[in-house]
Amino acid sequence: MRAFTLPILVILMMVASGCEDKYVAKGHKIFSRFCASCHGEGGNGDGYNAANLDPAPRDLTDGEEDYMAKLSNDEIYEVLELGGYGVDLSAGMPVWGKVFSEEELWSLVAYIRTLHPNEASPIVFENAETKEAFFDHKKPRYARVKEKVFDELMASMVPDDDAFEELVASGGDIFEEVGCNACHVVNGEGGTLGPDLSKAGSMLQTQFIFRWIKNPQAFKASTRMPNLDVPDEDALAIAIYVSTLREDASGNDELATEESESEIKAGEEM
Ligand code: HEC
Ligand code: HEC
Repeated sequence: MRAFTLPILVILMMVASGCEDKYVAKGHKIFSRFCASCHGEGGNGDGYNAANLDPAPRDLTDGEEDYMAKLSNDEIYEVLELGGYGVDLSAGMPVWGKVFSEEELWSLVAYIRTLHPNEASPIVFENAETKEAFFDHKKPRYARVKEKVFDELMASMVPDDDAFEELVASGGDIFEEVGCNACHVVNGEGGTLGPDLSKAGSMLQTQFIFRWIKNPQAFKASTRMPNLDVPDEDALAIAIYVSTLREDASGNDELATEESESEIKAGEEM
């Protein structure tokens, strides 16, 4: 009898005292930095950027309905890896599979599982005996896209002014389709997690915008802007569209993106 109750007591005490498993703690830390702005520090969907999003960020605590409880661990992993866009949900939920390692993504799943009652089986991170890790802990790394890639794409996709104008129009649509507006304001609308881009075109070169979209981490490793895995043609259309944003409809003359641009430039010179 004693032999059974003691371990159960220990587990109960760990849960009650909020003692976090190593991977849950890791997921919690990533969540606070990258997810809380939309989902809220406690995961109930009330981050400061939530008001700018439609549909709203999911309440991960299942406060109102049993939603998260019904998802499998694999389904949660998949939406983190591919983003809302990749699983037919809103692109307001970004793509994280190009930024975090497999182990980090599973740590996020493990942390999310602590936020709502559920019967999913615990995620097993390592072999109990050998301690060998089951998931890759290496972060995905991609080289910075070369200017030459941009130049060649421009030459083939933008032969004349008409082509340019078409790309400005389609770029504006794709900007929303892939969820740039979840974090960036353009002309008074959009998310406030990233800088207002209403005047980005007068401060940033098109080639830089293209290369930044393709791989923000290559310019600034710690940035909270994810690599959204945007294909070259779409990234070019978006970059051309953003390059035409030169007016600030709010009449505010402050350069909202100045600071981050100089940080990025500094990063680029290193
Ligand atoms: C820019 C805002 C934003 C950020 C940042 C964000 N999310 Fe989301 N998330 C959303 C939105 C919006 C939805 C709802 C999508 C829908 O229902 O169509 C969502 C949905 C989800 C869901 C539910 C998916 C489902 O199957 O319904 C999970 C899980 C989730 N997010 C986890 C995360 C994690 C983990 C992070 C950080 C690594 C994160 N989110 C960062 C906006 C965001
Ligand atoms: C999850 C939020 C998020 C999403 C989604 C997002 N961004 Fe960002 N973006 C940021 C943040 C945060 C920064 C600030 C960069 C930094 O200094 O770390 C930024 C910076 C930028 C910059 C550089 C601004 C400057 O002044 O240097 C551009 C351009 C940009 N984003 C464009 C885009 C485009 C285009 C998309 C869609 C393909 C997009 N962003 C999607 C969060 C986001």
